[in-house]
Amino acid sequence: MEKIIDESNQGETLSLDKNIQNTRKLYIESYGCAMNFSDSEIVASILANEGFNTTQELENADLVLVNTCSIREKAETTVRKRLEKYNAIKKKRPHMKVGVLGCMAERLKSKLLEEEKIVDMVVGPDAYKDLPNLIQEIDEGRDAVNVVLSKEETYGDISPVRLNTNGVSALVSITRGCDNMCTFCVVPFTRGRERSRDPQSILDEVNDLWNKGFKEITLLGQNVDSYLWYGGGLKKDFDKASEMQIATAIDFANLLDMVAQVQPKMRIRFSTSNPQDMSLDVIKTMAEHENICNQIHLPVQSGSNRILKAMNRLHTIEEYFTLIDNIKEIIPDCAFSHDMISGFPTETEEDHKDTLAVLDYVKYDYGYMFSYSERPGTMAARKMEDDIPEEIKQRRLSEIIAVQREHCMLRTKQHLGKVEEILIEETAKKDETMWMGRNSQNIVAVFPKENYKLGDFVNVKMNDCTSATLIGKADGLSNIN
Ligand code: SAH
Ligand code: F3S
Repeated sequence: MEKIIDESNQGETLSLDKNIQNTRKLYIESYGCAMNFSDSEIVASILANEGFNTTQELENADLVLVNTCSIREKAETTVRKRLEKYNAIKKKRPHMKVGVLGCMAERLKSKLLEEEKIVDMVVGPDAYKDLPNLIQEIDEGRDAVNVVLSKEETYGDISPVRLNTNGVSALVSITRGCDNMCTFCVVPFTRGRERSRDPQSILDEVNDLWNKGFKEITLLGQNVDSYLWYGGGLKKDFDKASEMQIATAIDFANLLDMVAQVQPKMRIRFSTSNPQDMSLDVIKTMAEHENICNQIHLPVQSGSNRILKAMNRLHTIEEYFTLIDNIKEIIPDCAFSHDMISGFPTETEEDHKDTLAVLDYVKYDYGYMFSYSERPGTMAARKMEDDIPEEIKQRRLSEIIAVQREHCMLRTKQHLGKVEEILIEETAKKDETMWMGRNSQNIVAVFPKENYKLGDFVNVKMNDCTSATLIGKADGLSNIN
C-alpha cells in the first residue's frame, strides 16, 4: 500500500515539473496520407522536449503547425483555406506563430512566405529535427525556412507522441520517400529519395506500443514492399553496399516476419504496396502469421497498359492480375483495396473501359478513387497536356465509384452469417451503445457493447450490413486476448 502511495506521489511531482516547463501550447493539424499523421506525432515529440504541450483548441495555441499534402490541387486549396482561418484567430492573438510542414512546404519552399503572409515558418518533411532552431528564429522575429531533403533521416530515434489516439491502433513508419517516379505523382519531389528505418528501432517501437496497451499497428511507407535495410542510407545506393551488408540485408518480408514474431498478439497491417515491388515472399509471410491481417492495399491507377506505361507504373495489367491470383491462392480470404485515377492525359473511353474491367475482375472490397490533377514539376505535367476535359474526368470517376459501390456491398455481404474476430477501436459514431471495430479484412463492424471493453478482441456474429459496415452481435471474447 505504502509503495503505491509513494509511486503516485512521485508521479505527481514529475507531472508538476513538466507543467512548469511546458508553458507553450502547440496546435497541430494534419492533412493527407497516414504518413503525415505519423510525422505529426514525431513533430509533437520533438516539440514536447522544447516545452510545448499539444492542445486541441486552436484559439488557445501559441504555435500552430499545419502538416500539409500536395497530392492533388484540392488538398492544397484546403490548406490555404485553413490558413485564412488562422489569420482570423491571429488578429485576436497577435503573438501566435504559424508554421507549414510537409509536402506543400517542400514543394513551395520560401514562396509560401510570400504567398501567405500569415506563415512564419516553412519546414519540409526531413527537417523536423531542426524545429527547435527554427522556432528560436521566429521567436526572434525572423521568418524561418528549412526544406533540405535528407539521405538518412528516418526519425527512427524519436519516440512519437501519439496524437488523437484511441490507445488501440497506432501508425509505425518504416520507410521514407519514394523512388518510383510515377509520372503523375509529386511525392518523390516532396519527400525525397527512398530510405528505410533501422529494423531494431521498429521492433523497439512495436514492443513499446504493446507495453502501453496498443493492439494493432500499421507499418507505413509510400512503398512498403520496397523496404530494404542494409545499415542505413538510400535504397538506390544499395549496389554500393559491402558484401557483408548485402548478405545481411533485411527486406520487407523479413521485417514483417520479425514484427509478427516479436509481438505475436499484435495485429499488423501495412500500407502502401506498389504492385511492381510486392514479392511472393511477402504474401507467404502474411499467410504464415495469424496476426498479420488479410488485407492488401494494392493501388493500380488504371486498367490500360498504355496508360500504365505513360504513368511509369512498371507492370502490365496482366502482371497485376497474376499477382492478385497468386495472393488469392495463398490467402483465399484476403481483402483488396485500390487507388484509381480517372482522366490521366490521353485517356480514351477504351482505356476507361479497361479500368472498369479491372474493378470487375478483382471486385475490390473498397477503393480510393480520384480524378487526375496535374501537379507542377511532375513528368506528366512537363511532357503531357492535361487534355481530358473536367466533365469527362468527373463522369468517368463517377462510373468507377458506382461500380466500386456495388462491389463494396457484394464483398461486405460475404461476411454475413460468419463469426469473425473484431478488435474494438471506439464507440460507434451513430450509436453510443455500440462498439466499432474491424475484422482482419479491415471491414468496419458494429455491435452492442455489453460488457466488452475498448481493445478487446471479440468474436462477433455478423447478422446484417450496409455497403461498408457489418452489424453483428458479440459471441464471447476471442481466445487471443
Ligand atoms: N504510395 C503512396 C501513394 C501516394 S498518393 C501511398 O502510400 O499512399 C495516393 C494516391 O493518390 C495514389 O495512389 C494515386 O491514386 C493518387 N494520386 C497521386 N497523384 C495524383 C494526381 N496527380 N492526381 C490524382 N490522383 C493522384
Ligand atoms: Fe507516388 Fe508512385 Fe511513389 S504514386 S508515392 S511515385 S509509388
